[in-house]
Amino acid sequence: MTRPQVRGIVTALPPDKSISHRAALIGALSTGETRIENFSAGEDNQSTLSALAQLGVRIRQEGSSTRTVIIGSNGLFDLKPSQTPIQCNNSGSTMRMLAGILAAQPFTSTLIGDSSLMRRPMKRIATPLSHMGAHLSLSPNETAPIEIRGKKPLSPIVYQTPVASAQVKSCVIFAALHADGISEISETTQTRNHTETMLGLLTPHSPEKPDKITVHGLKPIEAKSFFIPSDASAACFLVALALLSKSPELVLKNVCLNPTRTGFLTILEHAGTRVRAENVRTIGGETIGDLICANLSLETPLRISDKALIANAIDELPMLSVLSALATGEFELHNAEELRTKECDRIAALVLNLLAMGFLCEEFSDGFAVKGRTTVSNKHIHIQTFNDHRIAMSFGVARYFSDIELVLDNRNCTAVSFPNFFELLENLIQN
Ligand code: S3P
Repeated sequence: MTRPQVRGIVTALPPDKSISHRAALIGALSTGETRIENFSAGEDNQSTLSALAQLGVRIRQEGSSTRTVIIGSNGLFDLKPSQTPIQCNNSGSTMRMLAGILAAQPFTSTLIGDSSLMRRPMKRIATPLSHMGAHLSLSPNETAPIEIRGKKPLSPIVYQTPVASAQVKSCVIFAALHADGISEISETTQTRNHTETMLGLLTPHSPEKPDKITVHGLKPIEAKSFFIPSDASAACFLVALALLSKSPELVLKNVCLNPTRTGFLTILEHAGTRVRAENVRTIGGETIGDLICANLSLETPLRISDKALIANAIDELPMLSVLSALATGEFELHNAEELRTKECDRIAALVLNLLAMGFLCEEFSDGFAVKGRTTVSNKHIHIQTFNDHRIAMSFGVARYFSDIELVLDNRNCTAVSFPNFFELLENLIQN
């Protein structure tokens, strides 16, 4: 394996995608002016803003790559019907969370997306929203377009999410804000808790891992300010870059270190690689700190099957698998069937590309294993990204550590979450 050096202090990682979506949606439901500092310029977050604009929400953006977004609203029922289908592009978070809000509006809406989003499962949100009284219809494959005939107000719900999905949980929480009573939402495996944190549903009296989230419906939300920290999922690609490089010296500033997002650091730690966090503090209920990647490497293969850890590292599994394969020649993953429902079937995409690179892979319904590597005679390998940003970025990192040239079929798809990804890698690599 070739091992260039990686050095730098990164102050401009993309602002967190999950928190940016939620800040915009909460702003649209709050009474007054919501100010969001450091809103993500990623295409997915811009899709949330444009979807809200289609629904008549007043939005101003200031700045370029990291922005201030100001949202004005008169509260829970200020959205206006859109004359055209609401375009969510590639963003599952936009579609699923917005559906929870539209379920409570006294009009009909249709949600659509790009070809990837139109293939993703939507029954998981249609079921609880129908229980609350909204009328949703999906395509025969239980995908978008989603037509939502809203009901004002919705009925409250007691609901346990059947899949580990923060989007489904958040969709039900957003709907419950519009219900005429008290809803209780719980999950079998805890997922990222930004929605409940930002809505103040996790109070000092309720523990960080509540048995249930209690939502009092029809309570006005007062507008406030949000600051968006750097995205832990974006940080993971740079942590992997550092771990693969020769004597790395990389500092990632102001990363969101919410424990429901840092499963990847725990997985690395279990394999003996501890990425240190410094300058740790809390801003707006979120833990933030600097990640120090110095003199570290991955020596032990990653073997991942713990469901709680998988839920807290779900978006990082592609990069972790490529990292482990390159650094150790081995990897194993079970209990991660959710990866098949992402922007593409990530298990199939990873296996296909790792096989092309000469890795010996075995695919399971809920994961895959890498068991060594053979040499391949090709000088170039075409990496099929399936237009999935995380597949593109995982192999975008691998390119620097591969003896064979890896040619990605689409680099632009990284703009969904990490607009300047390739430029940043070029700046950090010292040949
Ligand atoms: C997200 C939740 C996860 C994750 C996605 C963002 C969120 O999806 O994969 O990138 O912001 O809530 P699921 O809820 O479908 O697991």
